[in-house]
Amino acid sequence: MRVFVTGAAGYIGSVCVESLVAAGHEVCVFDNLAEGHPEAVTPPAKLVVGDILDGPLLKRTLAEFKPDAVLHFAGRALVGESMRDPGIYYAVNVTGGVNLLEAMVGCGCRKIVFSSSCATYGLPEKIPIDERCPQKPINPYGHSKLLFEQILKWYEQVHGMVHINLRYFNAAGATVRNGEDRKIETHLIPIVLDVVLGKREHIAVFGDKHNTPDGTCIRDYIHVCDLADAHLRALDRNTSSSYNVGTGEGISVLQVIEACRKVTGHAIPAVIEPPRAGDPPRLVASANRIKMDMGWKPRFTKILDTVASAWEWRKAHPKGYAS
Ligand code: UFG
Repeated sequence: MRVFVTGAAGYIGSVCVESLVAAGHEVCVFDNLAEGHPEAVTPPAKLVVGDILDGPLLKRTLAEFKPDAVLHFAGRALVGESMRDPGIYYAVNVTGGVNLLEAMVGCGCRKIVFSSSCATYGLPEKIPIDERCPQKPINPYGHSKLLFEQILKWYEQVHGMVHINLRYFNAAGATVRNGEDRKIETHLIPIVLDVVLGKREHIAVFGDKHNTPDGTCIRDYIHVCDLADAHLRALDRNTSSSYNVGTGEGISVLQVIEACRKVTGHAIPAVIEPPRAGDPPRLVASANRIKMDMGWKPRFTKILDTVASAWEWRKAHPKGYAS
């Protein structure tokens, strides 16, 4: 297939492009390189540097490439940042997304796989979370993702746009080639590994009085290769749907830190700090729907293996892609 990938020089997008290229697809990558790295794009995927807020450029690029399908990763994805600057979330995640849809309509492409998020559920009524749980986001990031899911429904009704919403839980881990390298890091595992590398003195644990067994937040850490596998399978779908993508296992912040200690052999000092605004205490996926419909299942089911792959990449790239 000819696949157009937005945000493909970033963490999850770059790993998906690796898988697309390995599977023999023809790939065109669109990224503004604000967070992405040109080195992260696996050849021979072609990189077009551009912003999804630049509608005319998107239109020209899609008209020329004529994709069979689009994978849409580009977007802002930090809960904390969205609580400080909601406007940028609505601009990039909603307006940018609509620019992409208009360019797709213009060039006759009618299939999109959208990087949605478990943040669309907000504070879930039950755990594990399945796709029928009400979507009531508690931060502008989750709300912007939900708005775009709703917009996609209308594009299906009006234009026949087949859309597969993949609601990721917490992406983690790395391949040999690609891993996490952000300008400002806020994610738990890379920050813990920074402590191991001596770049930070300790890991701050955001709250230990949450309503969870050890009082720290619980998340479902899904390996980025398993996310890539979900995308490749989604490309074969011809009906619209939404899918949770997670392991089904909840891991607390303290358990993640302990896994990092085991994998790296370092004593990682942890300091309890106040909770972070907008953080739900517990997010764990029920991924039964994607298992049933697509035959997908996670290959990485142990947090130790996921952390080990992240650590291998960080050891090989202590300065990220600049290494
Ligand atoms: N945490 C700490 N200390 C840190 C960093 C994080 O205790 O220094 C905690 C957070 O409070 C949270 C957990 O570790 O409880 C995971 O935090 P991350 O920042 O790694 O990830 P989030 O769960 O906040 O968000 C991520 C992505 C979102 C996505 C979400 C889905 O950034 O895009 O996962 O759960 F929507």
